[in-house]
Amino acid sequence: MTAHLERVRCDATPAWVELQDHYAEAGAAFDLRQAFAADGQRFANFSQEAPHVFADLSKNLIDEATQSLLLALAEQSGLAQHREAMFAGEKINTTEQRAVMHWLLRTPADAARPGLDPVRAELAEVHATLDAMLAYAEKTRADSQITDVVNIGIGGSDLGPQMAVLALDSFVTHTKRFHFISNVDGHELAALLPKLKPENTLFLIASKTFTTTETMTNARSAKQWFEAGGGRDIARHFAALTTNVAAAKAFGIATTFGFWDWVGGRYSMWSAIGLPLAIAVGAQGFREFLAGAHAMDEHFRITPLEQNLPVRLGLLDVWYRNFHQFTSRSIAPYHSALRRLPAYLQQLEMESNGKQVDLAGRPLPYGTSPVLWGEPGTNGQHAYFQMLHQGTDVVPVEFVAVKKARHTLPGHHPALLANVLAQAQALMVGKADAGGHRNFPGNRPSTFLVLDELTPTSFGALIALQEHRVFVSGALWGINSFDQWGVELGKVLAKDIEPRLKSGDVAGLDGSTAGLLARLAGAAEA
Ligand code: F6P
Repeated sequence: MTAHLERVRCDATPAWVELQDHYAEAGAAFDLRQAFAADGQRFANFSQEAPHVFADLSKNLIDEATQSLLLALAEQSGLAQHREAMFAGEKINTTEQRAVMHWLLRTPADAARPGLDPVRAELAEVHATLDAMLAYAEKTRADSQITDVVNIGIGGSDLGPQMAVLALDSFVTHTKRFHFISNVDGHELAALLPKLKPENTLFLIASKTFTTTETMTNARSAKQWFEAGGGRDIARHFAALTTNVAAAKAFGIATTFGFWDWVGGRYSMWSAIGLPLAIAVGAQGFREFLAGAHAMDEHFRITPLEQNLPVRLGLLDVWYRNFHQFTSRSIAPYHSALRRLPAYLQQLEMESNGKQVDLAGRPLPYGTSPVLWGEPGTNGQHAYFQMLHQGTDVVPVEFVAVKKARHTLPGHHPALLANVLAQAQALMVGKADAGGHRNFPGNRPSTFLVLDELTPTSFGALIALQEHRVFVSGALWGINSFDQWGVELGKVLAKDIEPRLKSGDVAGLDGSTAGLLARLAGAAEA
């Protein structure tokens, strides 16, 4: 193990104890309204520019003292060294002995920093694959016979490209329809197939491992449907996006775009998994998307911790989770094209940081990943914002607003922006009412992210920002943010249960599973 991999857990630092004292003395009773009254420069002092993203952090429950203690916590935990280890290609995913290099997928081919030398060969492979994939995307865009592109994949092989194609809809040349099939629930694929014609459809089978049950089941059904409908040319109508090119070939797919085990599934949208987006927005748009993410990578890699936006967001996450004991964070994108962002961030945060042991496998005495949830605004305001304003739990909210609209309908955009500003304001200022029911306690924290425009570049930067903030909190918590063993048990049990649905065999099952199985048995193929 190299020196970089020896990390100090946050609770073993002096700053952790100082933060506990600071929380008891000042943090718990901190009042945002008083903080603004006392500091006319609070907005300027607690906002942060980063590439393509501006962040107002001033409506968070922090002061200068909190901030410097959190920075001390980062320093004492070795955050900078851990970041360096990731950007040097060290095997920081220790349970799988893998490097973590999604950032390399967006590194320009001619990038010159000396730290890249050990991974030059990988960078060359990245660009060879990218060029081939983008050439294929352009060929597909020009192929007027293909009217429907169907991505079959799940988790990271679905959420990223699906979110991105929606988010960049106004950059999409609408000569093709895009569909995303993920669930093993056949209702999804069965509802789509009648709308397709084999000769007009391109199936992209997206799976890092090429073993995921849901994806393989859907891929088999799609292939059967294609052949039964007279489809012949599998090489033209099926492509596989995978690290397991051999399995894709064995499945009968000759057109493959590979990636590498150092790309986590939830970090894979920048690889061949991004092909639906590349077809949707074209090679140039995809390169801009990568460039936006690269700008954020560089910001994260070299900016001092105190002006580093992913670091500041990750530290806030630790402050809220471990000192205020807030258990969730809500994400409210005020842009309907970002409507799949909450689902994407759920996997990013919760699959990365939903861990209960440290790197050495020791149980943690503190909380890790918050529950992440949300909906686009203004829809959320008419659903769950009641709880955010008046519920008994405090939920930090992260607003995302986009200055420039890409439509010309009068009135809508000012109304949208007025609402996002008003919600953040209302959460903070509250409203006293002696009668009780109309009382808004206020002092509820929020972060406000602003993009000037939603473009491939700014969107890439926004997502890379989120990746790195998850890295920061995971690093401080001393966990492995890059494995996901917690998804395995259910997969194994499902394999055991599936044949029992047919046979009705309940031997060895707990009473509840046996009772439910008896109730569902026999209906499986109805
Ligand atoms: O089951 C969880 C998971 O492994 C995710 O981490 C991953 O994004 C998803 O399944 C899909 O995996 P694959 O791309 O290998 O099909």
